[in-house]
Amino acid sequence: MIEKLEQIKQAAISEIANANSSKDLEELEIKYFGKKSELSGILKSISTLSDEEKRTVGPAVNSLKNELMSSIESRKKEVVSRELDAKLKEEYIDPTIDLSKEEVGHLHPVTQLRYKLEDIFKSAGFFVYDGPEIETDFFNFEALNIAKNHPARDMQDTFYIKDDVVLRTQTSSCQVRALKEFGAPIKVVVPGRVYRNEASDATHDFIFNQIEGLVVDENVSIANFLATLDTLIKKIFGENVNVRLRPGYFPFVEPGFELDISCLVCGGKKCPACKHTGWLELGGAGMIHPNVLKAADIDPEIYSGFAFGFGVDRMMMQKYKIDDIRWSTSGDLRFVKQF
Ligand code: PHE
Repeated sequence: MIEKLEQIKQAAISEIANANSSKDLEELEIKYFGKKSELSGILKSISTLSDEEKRTVGPAVNSLKNELMSSIESRKKEVVSRELDAKLKEEYIDPTIDLSKEEVGHLHPVTQLRYKLEDIFKSAGFFVYDGPEIETDFFNFEALNIAKNHPARDMQDTFYIKDDVVLRTQTSSCQVRALKEFGAPIKVVVPGRVYRNEASDATHDFIFNQIEGLVVDENVSIANFLATLDTLIKKIFGENVNVRLRPGYFPFVEPGFELDISCLVCGGKKCPACKHTGWLELGGAGMIHPNVLKAADIDPEIYSGFAFGFGVDRMMMQKYKIDDIRWSTSGDLRFVKQF
């Protein structure tokens, strides 16, 4: 038995010396001191030994255990300190490195403005709604009182994907979507991208951003419409801005208006930014046509409302005095970095 212990000791000592990680050493601990280890086996069988052997084997096992434990401990110290060194080297952080040269991005000016508009409308009780840019002919045109072959379709040159699927030409496509989903009463704004199949120039691009507004409730009057628009536009552009409505034709509103604001650059005194008119065209607006409410299963005898759609890129151009709308989608960092 004593010989057996000696064998165990030799094997263990060389294994401990060869262990190279704290994990190896933990495994050795289990191997030599665990419940299923040879040493526990020997301790368990002590009762079957002769008295003579009991007296020598018991203490021998214990002293071997102590010896192995202390050699595992001292090996552990070496291994752990080596592991720590390696970890420190690997995870070394140099606090003197200058990170200021790292480029940090920021939101595009149109997105910044869009968020600001959302905040203003939210503070006035509107909620923000999102709809698809790939849209059905129904929501983009038909539900908005623009039947197939209606001449008004020519006002908006359209990218067709299939016969009845288009890239939305206006965020008005979400009017009937939102009405169908939430019913009336409703106060909603829909910011988003729209597409027009037309040649681009300094003030027109084939991709641009609009923000649509829709208010439907009982007894909504033209007076409500005018007061709301005036208040919101002053909130957006400041108290000094003037709002002007001109008659405008959109099949989904009656009456319909083109909405202008006084030029922010010259304050209405006429300058190149407003093409010497003193006014800037912001978008369309009007009282919702009964056919639009009907398309959304809302009774036009009970409910009425108004809608408006503004060009967000145009607002951005005024705000920052930008002379060409195409900068917006150019991806040119010289432009984007200025905001
Ligand atoms: N959707 C119209 C456009 O893109 C603008 C508009 C919105 C007009 C809502 C009236 C009411 O030109």
